Amino acid sequence: MNGIRVLVIGGSGFVGRYLMNYFSCHGTSTSGETGYIKLNITDTKSLNIILKEENPDLVINASGITNVDYCETHIDEAMKINGFAVENLANAAEDVGATSCHISTDYVYSGEGCKYTEEDETKPVNVYGKSKLLGEQLIRGRKNIILRISTPYGFNITKKKITFLEFIVSNLKSKKPVKIVDDQFTTPTFLNEIPIAIETLYDLKKTGIYNLGSTECLSRFEFAEIVSTVFRLNNELILKAKTSEIPFIAKRPKNCCMSNEKLKSITKIGDIKNNLEALSHSFLP
Ligand SMILES: NC(=O)c1ccc[n+]([C@@H]2O[C@H](COP(=O)([O-])OP(=O)(O)OC[C@H]3O[C@@H](n4cnc5c(N)ncnc54)[C@H](OP(=O)(O)O)[C@@H]3O)[C@@H](O)[C@H]2O)c1
Repeated sequence: MNGIRVLVIGGSGFVGRYLMNYFSCHGTSTSGETGYIKLNITDTKSLNIILKEENPDLVINASGITNVDYCETHIDEAMKINGFAVENLANAAEDVGATSCHISTDYVYSGEGCKYTEEDETKPVNVYGKSKLLGEQLIRGRKNIILRISTPYGFNITKKKITFLEFIVSNLKSKKPVKIVDDQFTTPTFLNEIPIAIETLYDLKKTGIYNLGSTECLSRFEFAEIVSTVFRLNNELILKAKTSEIPFIAKRPKNCCMSNEKLKSITKIGDIKNNLEALSHSFLP
C-alpha cells in the first residue's frame, strides 16, 4: 500500500503473518519473538503505547483465541480476548487517527440458514462465536471495517498450526485416509484475497461489515474432494463422516455459508478451483 502504515495485531498467526508479508508491515505476537512486537491485546496500557509508537493509518486485528473447543471451556478468557479487548483496540486506533479492520467469523451465525448476508440475524451456537460477536458489537458503527471470513485456505507460513488444506494435502500425500464431515457447510475464504479485500475497502474509505468467502457453498467433505482433485491426490482416501461421530466439545453450526455479493461488487473473488490451482503450483514437486 503506497505510503500507508499498517500494523497487524496477531501478526504471528496464520492470517496475520500473511497480512504482514503482503503489507510489508509490523505485527505483534504475545511472546514478542524475533520479528514481532510483544503485545497482549488485553493490556490496554501497552496497546496505547504501541499504537502511539507505530502511528499506523490502518490497524488490522487478526488476533484471537481461535480454538473453538478451547473457548467452550475457557469462557472468560475467550470473552476478554475475542470480545472486550476488541473495543480497547478500536479506542486506541481512534486515538491515533487510524482506521481499524477487525477480522471476524462466519461462526457469528446460527448455521441454520444459507448464504447469510451482512444484515442477517447473528445467533452463535458456541462460545467462540459468541465471543467474536461481542467483539463486533462493541465496535459496530464506528470508523472501522469488520471482515467476516470462513475456513481460510492457504499455506501457513508460521507452521504453528496446520490448516484444513494442509491437513488434507499432507495426509493424502502420505497415503493416509482422512475422515471429513459432510454435514457442515461453509464458503471458504481464500487467504490471498483477505489483504486485497482490506486494501480495497480502505482505499475506497468503506466501513461496516463485509462477508468474504467463496461463491460456492460446500460441505467440508466436498471441499476436501476438490483439494484432492486439484493437487492430483487420491480422492478415495477421503472418508465421509458425520459431525455427531467426532468428539467436538463445542457445538458446530451446520451451515454458515455467507453471501459475498456486497464485497463482490467492489473486489474480485475467484472460484475455489482456480484459487487452489494457483496454490498447487507452489506446492507440487
Ligand atoms: N482460522 C480460521 O478458521 C478462522 C475462521 C474464521 C475467522 N477467523 C478469525 O481470523 C483471525 C485470525 O485467525 P488465525 O487462524 O490466523 O488465528 P491463529 O493462527 O490462531 O492466530 C491467532 C493470533 O492471535 C494472537 N493472540 C492470541 N491471544 C492473544 C492476546 N491475548 N493478545 C494478542 N494477540 C493474541 C496469537 O499470538 P501468539 O501466537 O503470538 O500467541 C496469533 O498471532 C481470528 O480473529 C479468527 O477469529 C479464523
